[in-house]
Amino acid sequence: MYIQILGSAAGGGFPQWNCNCANCSGFRDGSLRAHARTQSSIALSDDGVNWVLCNASPDIRAQLQGFAPMQPGRALRDTGIQAIVLLDSQIDHTTGLLSLREGCPHQVWCTDMVHQDLSTGFPLFNMLSHWNGGLDWQRIELEGSFVIPACPHLRFTPLPLRSAAPPYSPHRFDPHPGDNLGLIVEDTRTGGTLFYAPGLGQVDDALLERMAGADCLLVDGTLWDDDEMQRRGVGTRTGREMGHLAQSGPGGMLEVLEGLPRQRKVLIHINNTNPILDEDSPQRVELAKRGVEVAFDGMSIEL
Ligand code: MLT
Ligand code: MN
Ligand code: ZN
Repeated sequence: MYIQILGSAAGGGFPQWNCNCANCSGFRDGSLRAHARTQSSIALSDDGVNWVLCNASPDIRAQLQGFAPMQPGRALRDTGIQAIVLLDSQIDHTTGLLSLREGCPHQVWCTDMVHQDLSTGFPLFNMLSHWNGGLDWQRIELEGSFVIPACPHLRFTPLPLRSAAPPYSPHRFDPHPGDNLGLIVEDTRTGGTLFYAPGLGQVDDALLERMAGADCLLVDGTLWDDDEMQRRGVGTRTGREMGHLAQSGPGGMLEVLEGLPRQRKVLIHINNTNPILDEDSPQRVELAKRGVEVAFDGMSIEL
């Protein structure tokens, strides 16, 4: 299985257009050793030609331009994107669909809950129906596995997660199963297995067991500290409120990962306030010591 990290930042990207936090301003004035990052999205393939896009970021245009295999050029108008899987209905994971309108119809795999949000509060399904067949909804059931015909050797297993629905959703403070998914993706030829969860608020024993079976964990790296937005003076919301488990402290993501010794561990969906973006930070040293990687745009993983 080919895994391509198209975007590794949380909503807003890095640097965020209107942000002057220590990271964003340090990046702009060159005093910080760091790389710019677009908003989180990955692409998966079993043959390197046909791709399943997991989440559609507002930065999709630049992301496709930066990764040639997604633009194979077999016809006058062409794309490597054969299907799109949405893990939630967050703006940073769905807005890219608007930019893909020239290539409609698109097969879009998502849960009832995500489809509901994208047919009401942010009605992408309705809007895009005016572009050549629009979005062809494929329902993701919360039980069992599914196969996407374009990548027949990949088996997708959805895992309903405790995270948070978007601010615009009627479920924002009333979580429903299916608002947020993690994915287990297994290549049935190589046996290679990915666990992907860019929005992960809580890890219970059942989930831990699923994570333990994966060869690579690509997980929520939004915040280092739960109250990081407050510490940096840019907001009031905590990671917990937003459905993102922070890395540091008791019960934090690093402690969770520590209990999983076998896998490759990679953080994704990094918020621009996170000190791990600074490659010279003590937090980055701590990650290296623990064998935890930080995803970057253009990173490729093969399982
Ligand atoms: C999140 O991951 O919590 C959201 O993308 C935040 C946002 O909508 O900006
Ligand atoms: Mn997000
Ligand atoms: Zn910032």
